[in-house]
Amino acid sequence: SAMLWLLLPLAAALFLGFGEPVSYHLIQTSSFHNHSWVHLCSGWLGELQTHRWNSSSGTFIFLYPWSRGNFSDKEWIDLEKFFWINFIGFQEFYTHHLMSEGEFYPLYPADIQMATGCELHSGKGFVGFVQAAIQGYDFLSFQNETWLPSPKGGRKAQKACTLLNLSQDYTHRVQWLLSDNCPRFTLGLLDAGKAHLQRQVKPEAWLSSGPSPGPGHLLLVCYVSGFYPKPVWVMWMRGEQEQQGTQRGDFLPNADGTWYLQATLDVAAEEAAGLSCRVKHSSLGGQDLILYWGAPHSSLGLILLAVIVALALLTGLGFWFMKRW
Ligand SMILES: *[C@@H]1O[C@H](CO)[C@@H](O)[C@H](O)[C@H]1NC(C)=O
Ligand SMILES: *[C@@H]1O[C@H](CO)[C@@H](O)[C@H](O)[C@H]1NC(C)=O
Ligand SMILES: *[C@@H]1O[C@H](CO)[C@@H](O)[C@H](O)[C@H]1NC(C)=O
Ligand SMILES: *[C@@H]1O[C@H](CO)[C@@H](O)[C@H](O)[C@H]1NC(C)=O
Ligand SMILES: *[C@@H]1O[C@H](CO)[C@@H](O)[C@H](O)[C@H]1NC(C)=O
Repeated sequence: SAMLWLLLPLAAALFLGFGEPVSYHLIQTSSFHNHSWVHLCSGWLGELQTHRWNSSSGTFIFLYPWSRGNFSDKEWIDLEKFFWINFIGFQEFYTHHLMSEGEFYPLYPADIQMATGCELHSGKGFVGFVQAAIQGYDFLSFQNETWLPSPKGGRKAQKACTLLNLSQDYTHRVQWLLSDNCPRFTLGLLDAGKAHLQRQVKPEAWLSSGPSPGPGHLLLVCYVSGFYPKPVWVMWMRGEQEQQGTQRGDFLPNADGTWYLQATLDVAAEEAAGLSCRVKHSSLGGQDLILYWGAPHSSLGLILLAVIVALALLTGLGFWFMKRW
């Protein structure tokens, strides 16, 4: 664990600089709708999905070549066994201990969500967590080696926690998963995937007008897409003046792991000329991307005009020379 602390600055440099905490978590959803359970599970390094659970084989699917991190085959097999047994044990536990006395809310059909993982907190190191929800309500969590019922979970959550807590071996295994395996794996994964995680992909940007916000008004839309990492600055400008009315949309993921964002500005139609959309991103090396409203057409027009004039001149010259010769 001394080793872990040595590696924290690396992790911090990799992620915390971008405002996103270093974390790894598994999201598990189990549903029991018609006499058979369906378990889905995915693994996430921050906002990037790196693993998926193959429930027919009971193994993890590695979504990137580096998704194994630095864990050995043996360590993976042990983890897969643990999760496999966990799913089965979980079904048993649910059907025998919780569903059998459904006096508070119907526990069938069941939808259960679980998040298990660890997150790096500055000053505290990695903090592990398990959170479970049933039918969309918080049910229980695991903190500091104990199972804690959520207030909304009622008596069932209390009962579940008492039962889980009785099994010291299981509780210790979960604690070990959160306090040892998870941080070690997360740091190993960050290291294995650093070429991918530290890559820089330049944004593309384009402008168009959106649905008119009202008579005499234009909605200017600046689209920025295909950039990585996520932090980006997009603003409508008049010269060097930031337009405070700029509305930023939500970040949307592209299928290739890059990001998409749009920034809109509602302006009176006659004020649109002279506005520009400015994009700052780490991949641009300080060379901001600037797109001028209305400019693409006119500059393209000017270039075309220049080319036509040049061609006409050349043709004219050609004829003149031919005549002379
Ligand atoms: C069980 O339910 C799922 C959807 O919840 C459905 O796709 C599936 O066909 C059902 N299976 C059976 C055996 O009814
Ligand atoms: C899941 O496991 C099954 C059985 O081993 C295998 O046939 C299938 O290809 C696997 N699916 C994926 C997506 O790897
Ligand atoms: C966890 O428990 C230990 C002792 O059991 C206690 O010293 C520590 O403060 C607890 N931490 C939190 C975050 O509750
Ligand atoms: C869980 O078990 C431990 C050890 O057996 C005990 O000290 C603790 O009070 C229990 N906690 C709950 C909430 O039952
Ligand atoms: C993997 O990397 C982490 C952090 O770099 C390290 O602590 C650990 O010992 C390495 N090996 C294994 C098998 O976890």
